[in-house]
Amino acid sequence: MIKAIKGFNDILPDQSAKWLHLESILADVLGRYGYEHIRLPIVEQTDLFARAIGGATDIVEKEMYSFTDKSEPPTPLALRPEGTAGAVRAVIEHNLLRGDTPKLWYIGPMFRYERPQKGRYRQFHQLGVESFGSALPDADAELIAMTHLMWQELGLKDEMRLELNSLGELDERHAYREALVAYLTDKQGQLDEDSKRRLTTNPLRILDSKEASTQALLAEAPKLAEFLGAESKAHFEQVQAYLTALGIEFEINPHLVRGLDYYNKTVFEWVTDKLGSQATVCAGGRYDGLVGQLKSIGTSDDKAVKSEPAVGFAMGLERLLLLIDAVSPIAELPACDIFVVAHPEVYSAGISYAQALRYSRPDLRVKMASATSLKAQMKKADKSGAALTVIIAQQELDDNTISIKDMQTGEQKTVAQDWLSTKDNFVR
Ligand code: HAM
Repeated sequence: MIKAIKGFNDILPDQSAKWLHLESILADVLGRYGYEHIRLPIVEQTDLFARAIGGATDIVEKEMYSFTDKSEPPTPLALRPEGTAGAVRAVIEHNLLRGDTPKLWYIGPMFRYERPQKGRYRQFHQLGVESFGSALPDADAELIAMTHLMWQELGLKDEMRLELNSLGELDERHAYREALVAYLTDKQGQLDEDSKRRLTTNPLRILDSKEASTQALLAEAPKLAEFLGAESKAHFEQVQAYLTALGIEFEINPHLVRGLDYYNKTVFEWVTDKLGSQATVCAGGRYDGLVGQLKSIGTSDDKAVKSEPAVGFAMGLERLLLLIDAVSPIAELPACDIFVVAHPEVYSAGISYAQALRYSRPDLRVKMASATSLKAQMKKADKSGAALTVIIAQQELDDNTISIKDMQTGEQKTVAQDWLSTKDNFVR
């Protein structure tokens, strides 16, 4: 038998209702902030991700699903590992930045060739937000405040901890990078294998190493905060001041560096202790250089290309659902409220009754079984989870009535045919 690929999961009907519920709460909050929805392709040119996320990141180096298509010459393509690169490509390509400051959100599957475990999959789903056009710290604070409201609406407010850091500007980070490499080069022998490799490829990632011995070495290392210029510092302080004014608690984590290269200034993560090692539920930050960097591809004069400030985040929906299940599970609703059973000889009248009911009571979910025997249909009704079964046979049709069975008590009675049209007679 052919099975699903490792790390690619089916979301079955007993789970999908929770997904829809989660997605509707998140979309509602986004609407309350005036953010607009955008739908982006799942496949993009590999180069887009390599340039945006960074050639020396784990995502681009090890985790991309890349392939070539059948065009001549073949184009290197990749399944998107994240949404920011595609969103930036789209706003540039469609001139959405001209005279406007789009605030966009997207939702959908992302793909990374990671080792699957609880909370980490090869196909996973993100809801992401990208806010363009403001270099000011209020844009950072607004996004964080919005996620804060999302946790509130999902009953997760007490499970989330906000970690913040500032990565400063590129030149500040470069100066820090040199200082860090100089400090660690002498002590290479004491570094774990991954960090040793990163010393030449992506030294800042050493800061979030999980190895205790590496963390011990870092205690005495130069600090990124000491390399920030006045502008970066003021920006970071203002973000913190806004959050304090909004009553949103946070911790500064000087080792928070993120796994994608496009960030500058503010970075943040919402973490929980309820999900073991896959603790980050939502993460993001500012990326003021990315629009300019992607715009300048193929142009000879980099300086002529104006960037556009931006800030964004993405949350992992599987992780959010695991967390919701751990703390306040979403009650499972049965797939139907009313089950209509009709004698095979008057089945057509049964279909008409169910159809009319769906028109008159859009608040109800009405199901029928196929035109088998009454007994077989009643069995289906028993299993359906419906609160009420409507039974229609010749006698009922002659009398303009229906029989109704309360599925909880088993009590059955005959009522007028239009009984369910009166909303008070049956409330879901
Ligand atoms: P990221 O930190 O790579 O950031 O991913 C964001 C979130 O996606 C993570 O915090 C996690 O909840 C979820 N996630 C990532 N990988 C997996 C996986 N293999 N399985 C399950 N969940 C996963 C980004 O993707 C950036 N594009 C966020 C952003 C938007 N920054 C600015 N704008």
